Amino acid sequence: MTRLTDLETPCLLLDRARVEKNAAAMIARCRALGVTLRPHVKTPKSLDIARITQGGGIGPVTVSTLREAEHFARHGYRDILYTVGIIPAKLDRLTRIQRETGATVRIVLDSQYVAEGIAGYARNIETTIEALIEIDCGEHRSGISPDDSSLLTIASTLQAAPGVTLVGVITHAGHSYAENDIDAVRALAAHERDSCIAAAEKLRQNGHDCPVVSVGSTPTILHADHLEGVTEARCGVYALWDLAQASRGMCSLDDIAATVLTTVIGHNRQGNCIIIDAGALALSKDIGANRFMPAAGYGILCDAVTATPLTPLSVNQVHQEHGTVDIQDAAWFERLPIGRQVRIMPNHTCMTCAAHDVYHVIQGDQVIDNWGRINGW
Ligand SMILES: Cc1ncc(COP(=O)(O)O)c(C=O)c1O
Repeated sequence: MTRLTDLETPCLLLDRARVEKNAAAMIARCRALGVTLRPHVKTPKSLDIARITQGGGIGPVTVSTLREAEHFARHGYRDILYTVGIIPAKLDRLTRIQRETGATVRIVLDSQYVAEGIAGYARNIETTIEALIEIDCGEHRSGISPDDSSLLTIASTLQAAPGVTLVGVITHAGHSYAENDIDAVRALAAHERDSCIAAAEKLRQNGHDCPVVSVGSTPTILHADHLEGVTEARCGVYALWDLAQASRGMCSLDDIAATVLTTVIGHNRQGNCIIIDAGALALSKDIGANRFMPAAGYGILCDAVTATPLTPLSVNQVHQEHGTVDIQDAAWFERLPIGRQVRIMPNHTCMTCAAHDVYHVIQGDQVIDNWGRINGW
């Protein structure tokens, strides 16, 4: 039996019971909203966690890399939505995945240039390409406005192309992460829903089929008043949660399921700080939580076994492999001697987990399993 103290640090820990609780809550939420849950596996990047988020089975998933698409397709997933805008240069790989696995990997686009590229490509292949048009509901990262005239041009180009099926519209209210006020998130959720439905209606009125209306970010799915007219919800971070979401009131610290195990490697008494072996490469430099939770630093220190926060300690500076924890009270040198393990609750879990290839699944101080992650592109 492996114990936490047998693990080399830094490494990634996973509390399975917390993932199960988080997953069950989102399954119930989507059932109540009357929409299909299409979990975004870009956060956990794990077959084992994906299975938990779907109540033990295999269902539709969202991915953000073709590597994820390929991995999930090779492991029995048949309905995959790749939500980073496609470019024609990636269609060879995409169609190879479809051909070799029998899975459908739906793609997303927001320009006439790409629509023409897809149409031209599809002429010479046997497999069908299913596509969704991306709508910008306010984040201004990608997508077009539902009022943009190119919506219909793109749709017509796709519809006219043999081997291509326009299946719907998609949007993502990523700007909901900037809010910590539930009413503001609720308003963004309504706008996310209404923008996507408006685009779908426009397509239908102009003779296009639009069966899929796909929306989602974790905050907007949690707080939408209703999702009538929407067919599917995409959310991912809820499976693991993190300080960024806790800082906005979306979860509590007790929900955070993935943490980084690290070891105290030094006491710098001149600098009043404790040094750990988790730096920027083990934690990431993303500090999205700090706008509403400035004390989050690069992650909050917790007891290695119980995950109870060691308030007020957090990681205040990161170098490549060193993390620096400032202390006001020298008693911490005694409480956290060199060689002692501690855990770090991540600031932004998607970024932190991406630095690790495996989750050590834990129960108390026992490691009960190891689950792989599919990083890279
Ligand atoms: C297109 C898209 N859909 C869904 C999500 C999931 O949102 P969340 O991480 O809030 O669960 C993301 C996250 O970045 C996304 O980019």
